[in-house]
Amino acid sequence: MKWANAECSWSEKITLGNASVVLHVRCTSGFLGNVRNVRISSILRASCGGGQSVKVLVLGASGMLGNATFRLFRESDGYEVIGTVRHERSKQYFAASHQLALVSGVDVENIDSLTRVIGDTKPDLVINCIGLVKQLAEADDPLAAIPINSLLPHRIARLCAVADARFVHMSTDCVFSGAKGMYSESDQSDAKDLYGRSKFLGEVDYPNAITLRTSIIGHELEGARSLVGWFLSQSGSVRGFKRAVFSGMPTVEIARLIRDHVIPNPHLHGLYHVSADPINKYDLLGLVADAYGKQIKIESDESFAIDRSLDSSRFRSLTGFQPKSWAELVRSMRDFG
Ligand SMILES: NC(=O)c1ccc[n+]([C@@H]2O[C@H](COP(=O)([O-])OP(=O)(O)OC[C@H]3O[C@@H](n4cnc5c(N)ncnc54)[C@H](OP(=O)(O)O)[C@@H]3O)[C@@H](O)[C@H]2O)c1
Repeated sequence: MKWANAECSWSEKITLGNASVVLHVRCTSGFLGNVRNVRISSILRASCGGGQSVKVLVLGASGMLGNATFRLFRESDGYEVIGTVRHERSKQYFAASHQLALVSGVDVENIDSLTRVIGDTKPDLVINCIGLVKQLAEADDPLAAIPINSLLPHRIARLCAVADARFVHMSTDCVFSGAKGMYSESDQSDAKDLYGRSKFLGEVDYPNAITLRTSIIGHELEGARSLVGWFLSQSGSVRGFKRAVFSGMPTVEIARLIRDHVIPNPHLHGLYHVSADPINKYDLLGLVADAYGKQIKIESDESFAIDRSLDSSRFRSLTGFQPKSWAELVRSMRDFG
């Protein structure tokens, strides 16, 4: 335990509804010792204490993960949700009722816009879905990738600490080369490319910040860059790589996991693997074809081997999270849209 036997104390004002109390906290070890820099007020709010809603700020609501996270929290009781987008035009993809909760003009290359939205919205929880993914050409440019994938998460964590907010950041199984499989948090990152290396540098471990290292599938608002979007846009036949293994989850299931397993565990901070059970891409595409009624021939291909599966037993044992079967996960992705 990082701070076991360390003595710490602090005072803070807690306001719930119209009532305020000043709490003097002093501890020498154990649970509070471990979370000494996490404000009690954040813990109470982020645990839905006092019947108040938890205010969630989703950064990058136009992205594949961001749009599902924003919509899932908007549809969940007990949350007040605000999403950020870079461009006003991104709002067109959302229902009118959701558009009201989107703030446009937040470009993280202009750090003032980020500082302002956190200051204005005063969130209890910030979820960062902004990143430069490897499918983008800019992900190979250090001047584009390092500020967003490496530096930004640390900046957000600091802004959140000042704003008394908890921070959830998303990292990737691409911090690993895929030579081994079933990687645990203690395995060394061995990515060879800038995307994996830049994301590794961006993994935050602060008392108010948790990094979820995972892989995702899901639906984009526009385009067909991702696996599922690409697959559903194909016709005739595609290759399904039987020796390409991953253990990611649909975007909506990641959002549910944050809601149901991260938020109720406010003491969790640092790096955690989150994953479903490993599946190869051939079997996965077969399940997607079945669930979406896609008529296509998937040719089994064994020429390409990679295994970036993650061992998430640590997160599972601490939170009780149990992934659904792959057939259920794919149906959940289809049904949520
Ligand atoms: N895709 C995967 O397989 C995967 C796996 C594991 C982890 N992750 C991580 O999960 C996060 C989300 O990934 P994703 O697949 O949802 O990516 P995505 O669909 O490409 O979305 C990226 C988001 O970042 C926003 N963004 C990019 N540059 C920005 C800037 N300068 N200012 C403000 N916003 C900016 C984009 O806004 P615009 O819409 O305006 O471009 C978009 O909302 C990333 O951190 C990624 O590394 C992804």
